[in-house]
Amino acid sequence: MNIPKKLSIAIDGPAASGKSTTARLLAKKLGYIYIDTGAMYRAATLAVLKKGINPEDSKNAGKAVAESEISIKIILQEQHTFLDGEDVSKKIRTPEIDRNISVIATNTDIRKIMVAQQQRLAEQGGVVMDGRDIGTVVLPDADLKVFMIASIEARAQRRLQDQAEHNLTLQEIKDDIERRDFADMNRSDGPLKKAEDARELDNSNLSIDDQVDQIYKWVNELIA
Ligand code: CDP
Repeated sequence: MNIPKKLSIAIDGPAASGKSTTARLLAKKLGYIYIDTGAMYRAATLAVLKKGINPEDSKNAGKAVAESEISIKIILQEQHTFLDGEDVSKKIRTPEIDRNISVIATNTDIRKIMVAQQQRLAEQGGVVMDGRDIGTVVLPDADLKVFMIASIEARAQRRLQDQAEHNLTLQEIKDDIERRDFADMNRSDGPLKKAEDARELDNSNLSIDDQVDQIYKWVNELIA
């Protein structure tokens, strides 16, 4: 019997487009490792803020991240993010991190560190990795590249539900998503961009299960 090759799957797309949930469930279904690269940039942002460094101070922000240990671990099938040994999975999902992350994600020194670490994590294959530059920079040779999009309305509604405890209005969430997307698309290093060979998936009107099934179908076509 042929053992199917373990693929590398890249899922990119704008903020709150449902990448993480889809990627996590897809990885579970395939028995692959799921890597949420956004969580790593979030932990890098927390590392800089915790040290009292202004994120705009690119040299010292880069140094703070280089001196921090960011790691991810799967515990009970959920990805947990660690900063210097502390589980920061909750602390990285706050409006404060959202406000500061775009500057950190534009920092070339920090992107270099993140990309190298992500490439090491994906070395063995059998990974589903989601982010902004996975198909273009981190895994340009990925077996399958998906670019997920959804209307701003659908994305803001989903984030409103996910972040109910932060009491943000729908408009505040929309503004934050649009501001982050603009910054992500317009930076010179690793901008948010659909790779030429990526398949686009508009999930504005799809359930999570439908999205996972569609990508799972593409994976099976590739394996066959
Ligand atoms: O969950 P959400 O879509 O809001 O964002 P995320 O995936 O957690 O990523 C948060 C931020 O990290 C993004 O807005 C990007 O600025 C940055 N990021 C990046 O620059 N490159 C990646 N590969 C992943 C995230």
